[in-house]
Amino acid sequence: MTGAAIRIRPYRPTDVTCLIALFRDTVRRVNRRRYGPRQVRAWAPETIDVAAWSQRLTAHTSFVAARGSRVLGFAELAADGCVDTLYVHARWQAQGIGSRLLAAVEAAARTHRLAQLYAAASLSAEGFFAAHGFRLRRRQIVELRGVGFRNAVMIKPLAPPRRPRPGLTWRTA
Ligand SMILES: CC(C)(COP(=O)(O)OP(=O)(O)OC[C@H]1O[C@@H](n2cnc3c(N)ncnc32)[C@H](O)[C@@H]1OP(=O)(O)O)[C@@H](O)C(=O)NCCC(=O)NCCS
Repeated sequence: MTGAAIRIRPYRPTDVTCLIALFRDTVRRVNRRRYGPRQVRAWAPETIDVAAWSQRLTAHTSFVAARGSRVLGFAELAADGCVDTLYVHARWQAQGIGSRLLAAVEAAARTHRLAQLYAAASLSAEGFFAAHGFRLRRRQIVELRGVGFRNAVMIKPLAPPRRPRPGLTWRTA
């Protein structure tokens, strides 16, 4: 598989178990640097509801980064502009995959004429979103399975494509 290109493609229902495994592994190896053991256990438990994940991934506009048959990351866009998930495999961090997934999400949002993207960015991802034009709206503590998590609501307005105004003509002096 050496040299195979990394592609961003739409999610397929058969991806779900791979995505759950990647999610669990990334939280346990990457997010653990910014969150404590109780938080990591609550965020990425041993038992994850596959049917619920499958339903959510299908309902969202979901993308997978893959190299051949190997899944390297994934991202989901909800109908209201929420970047609901964005995870890159722990061994493939900082190689531009997150940026490519986010670009696919943003392109889909523009196609759906959404006014903005937003994310509840983890402490691990706040810098990444800031580097991609998201601005901090507020910091918050959310509860998941009885455990509190600090994260940051971040927003990126999506300017509508520029169109010439009807009747506007250039005059030369
Ligand atoms: C956040 C995440 C998806 C980024 O994916 P990635 O593939 O590692 O990111 P990229 O390689 O595309 O990074 C692109 C740019 O963002 C910057 N960046 C990435 N993570 C950053 C961070 N934590 N702080 C500051 N900048 C960061 C990089 O410096 C890079 O800029 P450069 O190209 O100018 O060097 C990945 O780190 C991840 O999976 N994190 C754990 C899961 C997580 O917290 N997801 C978000 C849930 S809300």
